[in-house]
Amino acid sequence: MNIKTSRRKFLQGTGAALGAAATGFPTFAIGQTAKIKIGIMMPFTGTYAQLGEAGFNALKLALTASGGKLGGRDVEYITLDDESNPARGPANAEKLIKESNVDILYGTVHSGVVMGMVKIARETGTLLMIPNAGAGAATGPLCAPNIFRSSFSNWQPPFPMGKVAYDKGYRNVVTMTWKYGAGEEAIGGFTEGFTALGGKIVKEIMVPFPDVEFQANLAEIASLKPDAVFVFFAGGGAAKYVKDYAAAGLRKSIPLLGSGFLTEGVLQAQGEAAEGILTTLHYADNLDLPTNKKFRADYKKAFNKEADIYAVQGYDAGLLLAAGFKAVKGDTGAKAELYKAMEAATIDSPRGKFTLSKAHNPIQDIYLREVRKGQNEVIGVAHKALADPARGCKLTG
Ligand code: BEZ
Repeated sequence: MNIKTSRRKFLQGTGAALGAAATGFPTFAIGQTAKIKIGIMMPFTGTYAQLGEAGFNALKLALTASGGKLGGRDVEYITLDDESNPARGPANAEKLIKESNVDILYGTVHSGVVMGMVKIARETGTLLMIPNAGAGAATGPLCAPNIFRSSFSNWQPPFPMGKVAYDKGYRNVVTMTWKYGAGEEAIGGFTEGFTALGGKIVKEIMVPFPDVEFQANLAEIASLKPDAVFVFFAGGGAAKYVKDYAAAGLRKSIPLLGSGFLTEGVLQAQGEAAEGILTTLHYADNLDLPTNKKFRADYKKAFNKEADIYAVQGYDAGLLLAAGFKAVKGDTGAKAELYKAMEAATIDSPRGKFTLSKAHNPIQDIYLREVRKGQNEVIGVAHKALADPARGCKLTG
């Protein structure tokens, strides 16, 4: 774990607030420093490290449009590597809130870790902005006025793939994933869509997170001879899975389908092995939208990397926060108005415009994509304006 902030920075911020009061410039409620503090709790090491970095980079990029400010106030980032370790989730979130006094908790990638953040956000009333982790509970039974997500629920991207697979004539499918919340919920989404039409899941394979020893499972898949395989993997594990699948000789005989994370941010590493893979996701590299083109160019210029879904979601989290804080002119104490403005925002995202559901989760198009020449290319809309069912959420919006 690594918290990067400094006492000097904190004192500078406090001094600025007092100075502002004395000089007649805008002041902030007692106890607030001049800067809005965002606690960045993301994985900066391990299999999800690149995902964490992209989600943080793009947040900063989004805020450059407003001079790096939120509602006119400077922003200070306090970063913490959560290591995708669910066991430390609550303690890490609590540390950012109680020791670093952050105004906003931002994170994370891993569904198990976000559950700890949700717990602490609910207990403390701190605004939680989730830029990736799709845990259904965060915008389901544990939804709350102060919890927002700019990404997806784990159910959303794979659910439409059930129909895509069925329409392709596949009837017997093997599923495979890491055994943790995101994997289980993603497989659940695909299974719901596929079996409702009459498809059959012949075997569910789960391996511990973040294991990448897939050989024995791939041998079993070869012997089962299903019509197709549907998987959820992401980050470093996704890169390895796709290469192993091809190396096991399955690529030509058993089509590999995935929730789109399978080919996000890892296409270079997967190379030729990824070509032709079909996935469903709320983004595609070549979406023909001015916002997407500008975003990809700006991101490349700023970070010398191709943008991916994790960057898109971080960018949109920044736009959502900017809309909310603009409405309250940076007043972190005006929580009801802040949340109302965020709920009412239409985000002009690189994925296409979206609004939030009553449970604070994007209502968004899910695209069917195919990997072509090292890009996730859109080949259709698998489900228009899909909202998570938000089962168990009592928010009325
Ligand atoms: C999750 O744990 O929720 C997750 C991680 C990586 C990609 C997508 C979802």
